[in-house]
Amino acid sequence: MKLGVCTGGGDCAGLNAVLRSLVLTARTRGDTEIIGIVEGINGLAFNPPRHQVLYSPNSGGLDEFTLDSLLTLGGTYLMTSNAGNPFRDPVVGATYKADVIRGYKALGLDGMIVIGGDGTHCIAAELASGGVRLIGIPKTIDNDYFDSEMAVGFTSAVNVAAEAVMRVNTSGTSHGRIMVVEVMGRNAGYIALNAGLAGGADAILLPERPFSRDRLARHLRETALTRKSHALVVCAEGAHAGGEDLNYRASASGSRHLGGVGEAVASFLHDALDREARCTSLGHTQRGSQADPVDRILAARFATRAIRLAHENRFGSMVVLKKGEVEVAKYPKPRSRGGSAARCLASSDPTIIAAEDMGIYCGEVP
Ligand code: F6P
Repeated sequence: MKLGVCTGGGDCAGLNAVLRSLVLTARTRGDTEIIGIVEGINGLAFNPPRHQVLYSPNSGGLDEFTLDSLLTLGGTYLMTSNAGNPFRDPVVGATYKADVIRGYKALGLDGMIVIGGDGTHCIAAELASGGVRLIGIPKTIDNDYFDSEMAVGFTSAVNVAAEAVMRVNTSGTSHGRIMVVEVMGRNAGYIALNAGLAGGADAILLPERPFSRDRLARHLRETALTRKSHALVVCAEGAHAGGEDLNYRASASGSRHLGGVGEAVASFLHDALDREARCTSLGHTQRGSQADPVDRILAARFATRAIRLAHENRFGSMVVLKKGEVEVAKYPKPRSRGGSAARCLASSDPTIIAAEDMGIYCGEVP
């Protein structure tokens, strides 16, 4: 069997560990070729398709040194693309689909293992009707893939963020300042919540729970700033005050990205509490770590199951984690058929409850 594999959407730690696990599994079986598609599924749209043989029983593939390095190496060896959804425009989408299918056939693939988040999978799902057989593996630092309690990349990102929060905290303690750390996560607060709790935050601002400026200021005045010299706030990039819009900033290339709410919160707290405040925005550092052991193990469990599914002819499936077990779910629907594969924190999330029980301000119940 000849399987293509690609990584789509934002990079994260653990992608290369998935690639390595696919190769080792294929090599152990001896009956599977693994063809890496370069720069996401877009690589198939090139003529000739952009690809690299990662493993073939006949012609080899990656050398041992590279394979070993992939276990912890950050980013993605295959590169990725995060350039939006070509199917938003039906004409562009139709051409794109025809090009990808041509590349898929040209390589003689029996199926594609797509490693991505909700955007990537909803785009790839458009190709199924053209005969591209899909098996999905969820990855995202945001941990917002709807059907899986954990995605590859999440715990490594939380490790980076929690470490940064603790480092910022020592500076806050020394200067008696209010320190705000802005983390990624899009419209989901999983990174903020987990890094905030693990890093000792006094307040955690989440997209799912718009905060009240007054309550946030009062909380810090009456708790953190009464009991100690400083205060620590972890703020998701998608957090916002009740009734206010999300914060966006333009990238160097002109595109719009979530971000900037941390600075706004620091500036508000400085004025409201008459205390020096500083903001650190962690940005892409959260995507750039080594894969932590949890991600490496998840990568192995997802990749081995994905190969087994292909040999059982169970295309149209996703491997997901439910109650700690790897399970098989349906591949998501394309966006054009109403598909969305993103989720966010529920107010009843046990980690939010634990944080609030410890006196951490987590915004208002919507
Ligand atoms: O979805 C992953 C993510 O890192 C988000 O947390 C963040 O908002 C976004 O990607 C940043 O995207 P880009 O790499 O295009 O700036």
